[in-house]
Amino acid sequence: MCFASGRGSNVEALIRSIGALHIPARIVLVISNNSGAGALKIARNADIPTLHISEKQYESHERFTQALLDALSAVHTDLIVLAGYMKKLPSEICRKYPGRILNIHPALLPAFGGKGMYGLYVHEAVIASGAQVSGATVHIVNDEYDRGKIIMQENVPVLHDDTPETLAARVLDAEHRILPRAVADIVEQIQKDSHKKLVHE
Ligand code: GRF
Repeated sequence: MCFASGRGSNVEALIRSIGALHIPARIVLVISNNSGAGALKIARNADIPTLHISEKQYESHERFTQALLDALSAVHTDLIVLAGYMKKLPSEICRKYPGRILNIHPALLPAFGGKGMYGLYVHEAVIASGAQVSGATVHIVNDEYDRGKIIMQENVPVLHDDTPETLAARVLDAEHRILPRAVADIVEQIQKDSHKKLVHE
């Protein structure tokens, strides 16, 4: 299942790649904190169930976390993909799905990550630093912002006349390539692990 906040091009890339690369997986749910997110529209057009769950709808952080936990348990998901989710996932969820939550970040972590490093802020910081290479990173999500194990990266050159917008567009193409590949790898690993478990039972 996926979490997304905005336009949804990573969700779209994932839907397309699951078909094109024959990834043995199905997106069972897309949750967004933003009822107007393009990601929800893209999911609905692909007949994927959607939910709008925002912390603002709940009287406490605990109630919000419980609503997310309930939604996740109901779909029995093996893998959670943060495909452009602009919020921090509650710690309880990170702890409940260790090694099973992926995030896509639009820079080469561990550089240009952490609190406040999202969207165009990331690309502004990369350009301001004078770096000649940026890129995209898929990593495992743990309790610390952008600090989980890196599982795939792709470099993207920073051109001398880049603006945050032009760099973002080039990095986004890399995101659309590596997120589906990382998901395919993890799905394969999950299948191997469950086969081993069955053999040993
Ligand atoms: C992407 O750049 C992603 O890395 C970041 O937010 C953006 C979301 O784009 N976390 P989209 O909604 O997937 O089009």
